[in-house]
Amino acid sequence: MPANPDINGETHRAPQGRTGLKKLLLVLLLCLSAPAAAEYADVVLNKRSEAAGMPPVIFQHWFHRERFRCKVCHSELGFQMRVGANDVLMTDIIDGKFCGACHNGSLAWGPENCELCHSGLPGLKTGIRGDAETRGPGRW
Ligand code: HEC
Ligand code: HEC
Ligand code: HEC
Repeated sequence: MPANPDINGETHRAPQGRTGLKKLLLVLLLCLSAPAAAEYADVVLNKRSEAAGMPPVIFQHWFHRERFRCKVCHSELGFQMRVGANDVLMTDIIDGKFCGACHNGSLAWGPENCELCHSGLPGLKTGIRGDAETRGPGRW
């Protein structure tokens, strides 16, 4: 398909303008100020688990982030981007919400595998653990 010189000229010129450069710098700053480490760490979820007699949940943010875009979880599935901000019930998961949108026995193994998610050591508080890598189930 022959390129349209007008359209190409326009798209090549635009980012070199002053506003284009400012926008680029702003985006760069926003990226740098995000809590980068948190994206790759393990998340401990223990708002309800231990109180209900189950070990805390370890969610390998890093492992999942490699496989899915942020917006799948943080927009489509409604997970707020703040540790401890989500109130997740096991009935929600079994109904296909939150983790259960994928952990349903078809896209990924299902909710009957309690110990794969509830793999934390007793007493772990909700929060981020580690930074650049996941330690996997049962290591925290
Ligand atoms: C498979 C689902 C999933 C994906 C994909 C995902 N996240 Fe998350 N994220 C979560 C969950 C679950 C939490 C913990 C929420 C809670 O504790 O209630 C979380 C927490 C966070 C937090 C909070 C960290 C803190 O210190 O409070 C940030 C920031 C975040 N995610 C950013 C991202 C970014 C950026 C991406 C893409 C690069 C991403 N997430 C991809 C599920 C996901
Ligand atoms: C967007 C889809 C998606 C969501 C949402 C999701 N997972 Fe997963 N998860 C996967 C897939 C795919 C795998 C890999 C399954 C496999 O290897 O068979 C996985 C694997 C895992 C593993 C094993 C990781 C390892 O190191 O092998 C755990 C634990 C886990 N998920 C917990 C959770 C928890 C807890 C939540 C909710 C907070 C959650 N997941 C939400 C898709 C998802
Ligand atoms: C795919 C991951 C996953 C699997 C598998 C899973 N859970 Fe959960 N479960 C969670 C998450 C996430 C929470 C919310 C954690 C928190 O905030 O404490 C939770 C919370 C709970 C709670 C406390 C909240 C409530 O609804 O009462 C109980 C009890 C519970 N799970 C039991 C189980 C049992 C029993 C199984 C196996 C039959 C199971 N879970 C399997 C992820 C999972």
